[in-house]
Amino acid sequence: MTQTGHRSMWSSRWAFMLATAGSAIGLGNIWKLPYMIGVNGGSAFVLVFLACIFLLGIPLMMCEIMLGRRAQRNPADGMLALAREARAPAAWKWVGIAGLFAGLLILGFYSIIAGWVLDYIVRAASGEFRGIDGPAAKQQFDQFLATPLQMLVWHTLFIVMTLGVVARGVNAGLEKANMILMPALFAILLVLVGYSMAVGDFSRSAQFMFTPDFSKLTPVAVVSALGHAFFSLSLGMGAVMVYGSYLQRHVSIARTTIYIAVADTGVGILIGLAIFALVFANDLEAGAGPGLMFQTLPIAFGSMPGGDIIGTLFFLLVTFAAWTSAISLVEPAIAWLTENTRLTRKQSAWLIGITDWLLGIAVLLSFNEWQHVHIVFGLGIFDTLDKLTSTIMLPLGGLAMALFAGYVMKTEHVREELGLGMGPYRIWRALIRYVAPLAILAVFLYLLGVIGN
Ligand code: TRP
Repeated sequence: MTQTGHRSMWSSRWAFMLATAGSAIGLGNIWKLPYMIGVNGGSAFVLVFLACIFLLGIPLMMCEIMLGRRAQRNPADGMLALAREARAPAAWKWVGIAGLFAGLLILGFYSIIAGWVLDYIVRAASGEFRGIDGPAAKQQFDQFLATPLQMLVWHTLFIVMTLGVVARGVNAGLEKANMILMPALFAILLVLVGYSMAVGDFSRSAQFMFTPDFSKLTPVAVVSALGHAFFSLSLGMGAVMVYGSYLQRHVSIARTTIYIAVADTGVGILIGLAIFALVFANDLEAGAGPGLMFQTLPIAFGSMPGGDIIGTLFFLLVTFAAWTSAISLVEPAIAWLTENTRLTRKQSAWLIGITDWLLGIAVLLSFNEWQHVHIVFGLGIFDTLDKLTSTIMLPLGGLAMALFAGYVMKTEHVREELGLGMGPYRIWRALIRYVAPLAILAVFLYLLGVIGN
């Protein structure tokens, strides 16, 4: 397939790997996965999550990279070009278009949480957690949520940070940011894990995460493990596709994908171990839910030696993770704008930045002034965006991509792009044609209340 005009490329395989790992490793790993493990009873959930990553996540990520690299275009035009090549209906482009919007919607709430994290860097550094107990930590967080102006400042900063990187382009922006932030992230992670091994209750944490107790496993847990495997690997909306479209031809998609998935899950597991070690050492609640990071952890930081520094490092790590993910949420839309309109990359970044900034304002108001505004099913603005994207748009996007690669594209094109031997290719194809679509469908049916309940 021919290229459209001049497009930038990652300067090495390493750059692609770091950038895609950067996209995958985010708030999903550090904020959401640990609290989901906690709420769903620990180890059995971890096992199901790992199975979802390996059986569905890896094949689907290969699929998305493959689609992007073959198309050499932004996800919307890319799906159109691939559909033409396969003599399939042009309507496939809607998979790409929906993806562009999903990315913008996700950033609308992602930026708010990232803003909380930025605020908590300052709190940790200024010693605000010292000696606080449960009620005080809760009050601190509630008070913050009730202050829209403060949240607005951090949200604005995070949007500027994100679009500031994207405006610089693939090499000077995306690639450079990931080359700096990702190694820094891994370094901080090692320090944190070391610290929590020394100070925390690591053995209880490991026991909690790795001794399977299947009696605690509910259907809801299975469904959310699958949904989260998607979210965690950034699948289903074209973020990985657009990153793949900047990838050189000679790089092996399978091997690279496995490294990325292992890094993503590895970071999630290590962070979980570190967090629960601190939680157990302080006799705190592992199943605290979404407040785990903002209400439970500060108590642990506030009562441990060197807690100010460790707390600051922790929230810095979360910021780096969120930042490199946010970049990938807007890149599909930015690529579309620069490839289809006369806007420059910088102008496109302004346009998307302002759009997401406005959306974010609605989201942050939903925690205070607009608390009683409900969009659908009694859900507020934040929950609506979260549910709409991670339980509907991403799985549907993933399903569509799997069906496209598994049934619509010519086998020789897929094989040529993936470069797999016959055996591995057959396995991949079975997972993409049967296992992934059925699993995603089962989740939908469950959500619609057909099975279970
Ligand atoms: N994977 C990221 C996380 O774990 C979030 C993310 C970035 C994402 N890009 C995405 C999720 C694209 C879905 C689709 O926090």
